[in-house]
Amino acid sequence: MNGQVNCPSMGSGLEPIKVNDAANQKWYKPIISVDSDASGNKHVYKAFRFSHGLLGNYFRFLVAHELRMLKKVEHLDFTPDQVSRRSDASPTIHYRLIEGKSIKDVAASNGVPANFFSKLFSDVKTLHQHGVVHMDLGNSGNILVSAQGAPAIIDFGSAIPLSWLPSSVQSWACRKDILGVLKLWHRFDKESMPLFLLHYYQSNYRKNIYTPKRFLKAARRWVTGDTGSADLSGVTTVISVFFGLLVLVSFT
Ligand SMILES: Nc1ncnc2c1ncn2[C@@H]1O[C@H](COP(=O)(O)OP(=O)(O)OP(=O)(O)O)[C@@H](O)[C@H]1O
Ligand SMILES: [Mg+2]
Repeated sequence: MNGQVNCPSMGSGLEPIKVNDAANQKWYKPIISVDSDASGNKHVYKAFRFSHGLLGNYFRFLVAHELRMLKKVEHLDFTPDQVSRRSDASPTIHYRLIEGKSIKDVAASNGVPANFFSKLFSDVKTLHQHGVVHMDLGNSGNILVSAQGAPAIIDFGSAIPLSWLPSSVQSWACRKDILGVLKLWHRFDKESMPLFLLHYYQSNYRKNIYTPKRFLKAARRWVTGDTGSADLSGVTTVISVFFGLLVLVSFT
């Protein structure tokens, strides 16, 4: 789904409505549905597909982790609350729906509400004061604009308690969250960015290439000197992987 849950309302007792298209989703992505209870409160269900075997255990672990992180911060006014897990063995977590749209959609239509990013910036500091780093704030799908125009942070699947990290890594992790916010601020509402934050962003933000896909893309660009083309031959791919591995081997 593209960041928006404008869910159709439904009566209680019916099956939850699937919000994202499961058939076109990658197998490891959760299926998101919205349901409402007897009093009309809407809940989001985030369900992974595998509940048996090794994968089932892995996804149950992810859900248990997200639940644990959200429990630490659900009392804040910018996070999902009423968080719980299905009582059966299925890897499903649910929490209250935040009515709103993704920051990407809002920026493309009405524009970003005034002070949105400065509020988000201070919310992230509050999150850190409560001992949690989010670790995926540069992903625009994880930032919603509520019906009141306020920021909401969702998707605590990659979040970590600061207490788990040594102090040098703690400051790196907090900086990563802050740079994630600055990346979105720069992309969606650059004009409202204070100069000192703009300079901080420009001198500190580095695109993350430490996933296999991004690493491959960066290696391809490096080998070909190409900055834009995505359609490169298999030979180039093989050569870039070769050089990529060579670099890795020489540094390990
Ligand atoms: N509490 C919530 N209120 C409103 N919408 C939500 C809520 N939780 C999830 N969503 C919607 O579901 C989408 C996917 O949820 P989430 O980010 O937790 O899963 P994900 O697997 O990490 O997806 P992605 O990789 O797209 O970020 C969000 O982008 C958002 O649109
Ligand atoms: Mg997400």
